[in-house]
Amino acid sequence: MALADLSPSYANTQLHLHSSQLSFLSTHLSFHRRHSLRPLPRTRNARISCSVTSNEAPVAVQAQDQKIKPECYGVFCTTYDLKAEEETKSWKKLINIAVSGAAGMISNHLLFKLAAGEVFGPDQPIAFKLLGSERSFKALEGVAMELEDSLFPLLREVSIGIDPYEVFQDVEWALLIGAKPRGPGMERADLLDINGQIFAEQGKALNAVASRNVKVMVVGNPCNTNALICMKNAPNIPAKNFHALTRLDENRAKCQLALKAGVFYDKVSNVTIWGNHSTTQVPDFLNARINGLPVKEVIKDIKWLEEEFTEKVQKRGGVLIQKWGRSSAASTAVSIVDAMKSLVTPTPEGDWFSSGVYTTGNPYGIAEGIVFSMPCRSKGDGDYELVKDVIFDEYLLKRITKTEAELLAEKRCVAHLTGEGIAFCDLPEDTMLPGEM
Ligand code: LMR
Repeated sequence: MALADLSPSYANTQLHLHSSQLSFLSTHLSFHRRHSLRPLPRTRNARISCSVTSNEAPVAVQAQDQKIKPECYGVFCTTYDLKAEEETKSWKKLINIAVSGAAGMISNHLLFKLAAGEVFGPDQPIAFKLLGSERSFKALEGVAMELEDSLFPLLREVSIGIDPYEVFQDVEWALLIGAKPRGPGMERADLLDINGQIFAEQGKALNAVASRNVKVMVVGNPCNTNALICMKNAPNIPAKNFHALTRLDENRAKCQLALKAGVFYDKVSNVTIWGNHSTTQVPDFLNARINGLPVKEVIKDIKWLEEEFTEKVQKRGGVLIQKWGRSSAASTAVSIVDAMKSLVTPTPEGDWFSSGVYTTGNPYGIAEGIVFSMPCRSKGDGDYELVKDVIFDEYLLKRITKTEAELLAEKRCVAHLTGEGIAFCDLPEDTMLPGEM
């Protein structure tokens, strides 16, 4: 499987091991022709590929190939039997997953869960296309090395790069985690602009080279508006395929409700997070259930629900940062796995999950044209439908209006990146990410 444009001088350094063996190719990063990327230092092992070719008979390693072994990463330089001949025949077609911010903490948890088959199951081989930056490139190599050392039978290919137009080639999933955190003294408008530019570029790249049905999960904050920007820059990909991660908030809400009710969290269902992944998000206790009963029939303390519970979920990210000294990583990775699984497995009867999705055509009267967390159900085909049978009361509607106003303000702030005119930033004062206190 071609992963890169090989420059002629490097093309013949490819070592290819046939059937039940791994192939490794090492080449330099090709500087991209579409965009004026700064030239990069030539890096050994800048591009890695490991793959199993299932249709050909095993071929011994040639002495001539062994000469280039010093170029290899550990296990990819050796031959070992993955017993892949039989297995590969019954396995599904390779799935290509791109991950941006791949050298970061969230990815460090996520990649190993995906490679272990947690989302797609034990018969689904996968390929990782890892996107990093020039600065993180060494760390990216470290990630690839750890993936090698883990000997995941399902992990068939790993490639790394810094050019989204190369990394996103043919991907069926794009997990966009990388984003700049808000620095000291940085205005929110600046954060929206800096990250927005990254997501505009990645949207363009997805539009140009990804699978036409790629599913895009935006995690980098502010994730709702980043998802909107990405989507608007990828007009050839269905708007429905873009998600902003609010599953972590849903999981947090379930945990708090379970704690208060004194039940294990698997008894809590039908939890919706409405709106923005920010401190204005609305964890919905009106429609949520505990042991199949409306939450309010189990937790009678309405003041707790309206004040403590809501605020705890909204600000959980910030409390975690205070404890850890950094943003949540493992639980975010778990929630990405949950969010992906929710799209590739049928939603249990009567339940739903939350995801930040495009509002156009929504049945709740929420403003069109923004990415807003809402309740979804899936048949397990990667697609989703919005849940219709939810109820609203005055409290819920008031809160939803507030988070909606925040997202509309964020949208106005990035109009220059969505092709909707001149940006005008009038962000509400309390606009904050969950991690900002
Ligand atoms: C989280 O919810 O844990 C993060 O989004 C927090 C943050 O602001 O980075």
